[in-house]
Amino acid sequence: MGFVEASSARHVAEKKRLIQSYEKSEENWSVTHPRYRMLQALHGFVRYQERYQAQVQEWREAYESLPEAQRKVLESATTYHKKFDRLMKLWEINGKMSEEIVKHALSFYHIPQHELDGYINEAESIEQWDNQAAVSDAINHLARDWSTDGLHERVPTFAPILETIKEHFPDRSTRKEGPVRILQPGIGVGRLPHDMARLGYVEVTSNEWSQYMNVVYRYMETLTVPNSVSWHPYIDWWSHQPTPEEHEHKVIIPDIAVNASSVLHVEGDFMTVFENQTAHYDVVVTLFFIDTGKNTLEYLDNINRLLKPGGFWINMGPLLYGTSPQLQMSLEEVVNVSERMGFEFLETDEKWGEITIPGKTVRGQELGYLFNKRAMRRNMYMAQFSVAKKTGRDYPEFPKTENEPFNFAPGSKF
Ligand SMILES: C[S@@+](CC[C@H](N)C(=O)[O-])C[C@H]1O[C@@H](n2cnc3c(N)ncnc32)[C@H](O)[C@@H]1O
Repeated sequence: MGFVEASSARHVAEKKRLIQSYEKSEENWSVTHPRYRMLQALHGFVRYQERYQAQVQEWREAYESLPEAQRKVLESATTYHKKFDRLMKLWEINGKMSEEIVKHALSFYHIPQHELDGYINEAESIEQWDNQAAVSDAINHLARDWSTDGLHERVPTFAPILETIKEHFPDRSTRKEGPVRILQPGIGVGRLPHDMARLGYVEVTSNEWSQYMNVVYRYMETLTVPNSVSWHPYIDWWSHQPTPEEHEHKVIIPDIAVNASSVLHVEGDFMTVFENQTAHYDVVVTLFFIDTGKNTLEYLDNINRLLKPGGFWINMGPLLYGTSPQLQMSLEEVVNVSERMGFEFLETDEKWGEITIPGKTVRGQELGYLFNKRAMRRNMYMAQFSVAKKTGRDYPEFPKTENEPFNFAPGSKF
């Protein structure tokens, strides 16, 4: 189907670069070192099961502290009192998946078990806890990206992007310049890059900074057999559950066989890791991403630099600015400054939503993000879709960024 071949020279070179970036020395060791951030993330995955089981235990105790008369009424009408044992067992299943994620990560990143054990002992001795929300977030993204449960989010979100690539590159198989080069930064656990690769005759590069997401993505890469793993993502939240069955619902992954070789995944900060690739890509896709930086201008500048002249920037997502941003532009401001920075926004099909700002071509559409569609809560955005062409780059050079990315962990519960 026109995949660009696996374990190509660029896959081999990237793995070498990655493993080198994990080497530590006295001079380079700090909390921002990729190896340190990886140990920190793995700490969270190691403690995932017991943290949530401790919570179940607390709720069991809260239940048992109810007056006996109340418990009797409840027990005569429901199986609420049996939920605690059931959930403890389901957390064992979830814990097993988390254990597999850790096991694979240790081997993939060449980290010995004793080093992780040492890190955890030391961190816990000074009461330095892992980022539990980031662990749940990364694991819950698997349902969005790699299960049929996530179809209600993926289909409307991905369709405009995939259709746009097909529309602008209809003759991919006979292109003189070779495969269409696509870059997607901030992939989370990475389904869209794989769906883009399945278009055929494209060379997809994906990128992610968060080690929580990266370890889950690397685990996904090993799942070459469809429907081979299941877990219970919704048991981490008791609110908005219509029935106990729904709360305990099993999700199965992957819904398609994962072909790791069809995508090159490059870990690290999007702002720095592609420094050597000026005017390299035909397309840069940003999906729920441009609002994640401290300074959106730096992202726009980097997208412009990475694109070939005439290349396309396809964006889909809202503007949910993260922790302590330096800039929080409105959509109109983002569009105006992008135009100033050499992007021409193109007309897009009206099936991709209503025009949000009169006189501009950006279209808004209600899209879901990380929720169980059968639960009593919806997490929706008026996500904005735009396609812009790089026409030039006529502004003074920006100084190098000193911003560190931050962990994306809003949780599924906002
Ligand atoms: C809102 S999530 C969207 C994930 C995915 N695109 C999706 O739609 O499911 C944004 C992602 O961007 C990542 N990210 C943030 N800053 C980044 C950076 N500077 N370089 C690479 N990835 C980054 C975050 O870790 C997070 O996984």
